Amino acid sequence: MKNLILCLFVTFGIQLNAQITDDKLNKIVDQLSLEEKVYLVVGTGMNIPGFSEPSNAPQTVVGMTQDKIPGAAGTSYANKKQGLPAVVFADGPAGIRISPTREEFPNQTFYATAFPIGTSISSSWNIDIAKEVGAAFGREAREYGVDFLLAPALNIQRNPLGGRNFEYYSEDPVLGGKITAGFVNGVQSEGIGATIKHFVANNSETNRSELNTVVSERALREIYLKGFEIAVKESQPWSVMSSYNKINGVPASENEELLTKILRDEWKFEGFVMTDWFGGKDAVAQMKAGNDLLMPGTNQQSANILEAIKNGDLKVSILDRNIKHILKQYFKTYSFNNYVPNGKPDLEAHKTIARNAAIEGIVLLKNNNALPLTNNTKIALFGVTSVETISGGTGSGDVNSAYMISIADGLKNAGFILDADLVSEYDTYVKVERAKIPPKKIFFEKDILVQEKLWSKDRLEALANNNDVAVFTLGRTSGEFQDREVEDDFNLTADELELIKNISTAFHSKNKKFIIILNIGGVIETQSWKKYTDAILLTWQPGQEAGNAIADIVSGKVNPSGKLPVTFPVTIDNIASSKNFPGKVLDPTVPKPNNPMAALPSEEIYEEDIYVGYRYFDSFNVVSSFPFGYGLSYTNFEYSDLNITQKEDDLYLECKVKNVGDVEGKEVIQLYVKSAKGTIEKPEKELKGFTKTNLLKAGEMQEISIKISINDLGYYDTISNSWKLDKGTYKFIISSNSKLPKLTSDLPLKEKIISTTQKLLSPVVEINKLSKQLMVE
Ligand code: BGC
Repeated sequence: MKNLILCLFVTFGIQLNAQITDDKLNKIVDQLSLEEKVYLVVGTGMNIPGFSEPSNAPQTVVGMTQDKIPGAAGTSYANKKQGLPAVVFADGPAGIRISPTREEFPNQTFYATAFPIGTSISSSWNIDIAKEVGAAFGREAREYGVDFLLAPALNIQRNPLGGRNFEYYSEDPVLGGKITAGFVNGVQSEGIGATIKHFVANNSETNRSELNTVVSERALREIYLKGFEIAVKESQPWSVMSSYNKINGVPASENEELLTKILRDEWKFEGFVMTDWFGGKDAVAQMKAGNDLLMPGTNQQSANILEAIKNGDLKVSILDRNIKHILKQYFKTYSFNNYVPNGKPDLEAHKTIARNAAIEGIVLLKNNNALPLTNNTKIALFGVTSVETISGGTGSGDVNSAYMISIADGLKNAGFILDADLVSEYDTYVKVERAKIPPKKIFFEKDILVQEKLWSKDRLEALANNNDVAVFTLGRTSGEFQDREVEDDFNLTADELELIKNISTAFHSKNKKFIIILNIGGVIETQSWKKYTDAILLTWQPGQEAGNAIADIVSGKVNPSGKLPVTFPVTIDNIASSKNFPGKVLDPTVPKPNNPMAALPSEEIYEEDIYVGYRYFDSFNVVSSFPFGYGLSYTNFEYSDLNITQKEDDLYLECKVKNVGDVEGKEVIQLYVKSAKGTIEKPEKELKGFTKTNLLKAGEMQEISIKISINDLGYYDTISNSWKLDKGTYKFIISSNSKLPKLTSDLPLKEKIISTTQKLLSPVVEINKLSKQLMVE
């Protein structure tokens, strides 16, 4: 009976995503006092001792709401007089970040599902998977009392050393934008608001709150803004989080051109904008720019806004505008619809979703007949992260999950026979070494991994005698506040390289295979050591079901179908942005602070301009270790019969894809377009669309259709401030990866001005932009 009532309530009572009328909204705003208004644009929460101050909000008009849900990143203020409850904001991209325990419920836990990291989700190239994961987030949020998810994060993975790349999707804005839209649509289908972040060009962590990102309007439009534009237009997120950095001199949260002129006026965004936590410096400028909500809010900000209204520096109409943006979304939330969360989301069902998503994001990088393994294979399992497998990265993207299936446990669960002595020696080694590492004082400190253990040649020879195959897991972690290092992080440590070589020699001398599993959150060097292995399985940081998902691929129960959302370069210097990443401190005489959270005024000039990721590798003929879009399968696919039809501005690309191997599998089909030459230089080709087949049985064929608009084929012209299409021949390339074209067709298109914008976000300094033309001269 209780369930029936709840079900009726959900179906009829809550009016999922109910819209408030403008009339009603205007009436509410008219009734608010000035002080009440201020406590709607300034939030609260993040109750970390020594971090946040006690609120000065007056109890008479505003209910104190801190910690409505323990461990959530923040809340809004409730307004008891007006009957407005507090809404709750919680991180993050890999799972709902809340405290797993609550004082008032000593016998209950509130663990959240640790889903695979963003990069793993985008490696699926499967928008349906992103949507399914998003919907699971939504249901979990609802039953844990969270109204807004502070996710997804879709900054461009501009350089492998970006500390938060694991939270982000891709080096390409079309892949990132479309996966984001899928995820947001999933979250919001369950009545929870998604927050796309960090808007915009927050691509490095070093000095992030004092960093001025200097970037051309064209690179902004075509690369850094593009994914957000796709996400806004295809999923209309309830909110957007502005980033910490400045963009061409103006902080993102104080940037009217970004937050109002582009986001609202051009893209028709209907939600509200919140700051990143403690982001920006001038609350009044933030209000004017259209940064509607300041999170998690400080007493100083409330005082400054009140003062500015009183002295006429800030118009009440601006405050009202921002409040309406906010309340319009709040009225759709469960909190505003008096829903009582049951505290019991279906975590069992979400285990399966997490496992399937992790599987779908695994990329097979190399396979010389080594995988799959039959399930009674005897495995010598090496590597500390085979035992201490990494679920995800650190910082606000971390999740309090109930458990973690290690790779060792996953392989055992699947029936593999692990060398028992080796497993137990690793267990002991990891326990002893872990005990020497001081525990983290606060969640956003970086995790420290146990150093890899070396084994003598005799021991390796004995292990090769007693086992059928060697598997070594290589792990990496990173997180918020800190970018990664080249040495011993992007590049392997000397011990890791030695271990790889020694295992290879020992096992290969007995004609036995050697497989490497990568349990990493970002790109690493692979060129120098890949020759020592027979197979490489890139599993990223796959969430709590890691071991089970990996075992499903290792055993061949599921055929891998992930593809790289990012290029793996030969060396770090082969990445164009390595010349300027992560920027320079403006005054080099100031000593570097010891604390990664402290920031010094600095500047990062994006000289590589539009040549990010494969756009650079392709255009400048630079060889990679594994190209963008790459990924193998246990079967093979044949492509045929490409046909393009045009209906007004829409193009339909149709072709056939057939599974011509022996086992069932899925294939990602990538559409790249090489633009007509025109007068302005362009990347060699760009991803414009993609799709994934169904699970095709051996011999099965599927007809594929990818729809794009010719308006997506233009470039941004900074002279006329418009999106333009050059006339001439466009080459449509249906590919299996960015370096493996399968079918091509040419189509002549006419010249067109797609849309005209204003001159916005212009750099104030000259940028020495990378150019193909300059290279030729
Ligand atoms: C991060 C955001 C996060 C917020 C709240 C900030 O430090 O940059 O991504 O949502 O904290 O935890």
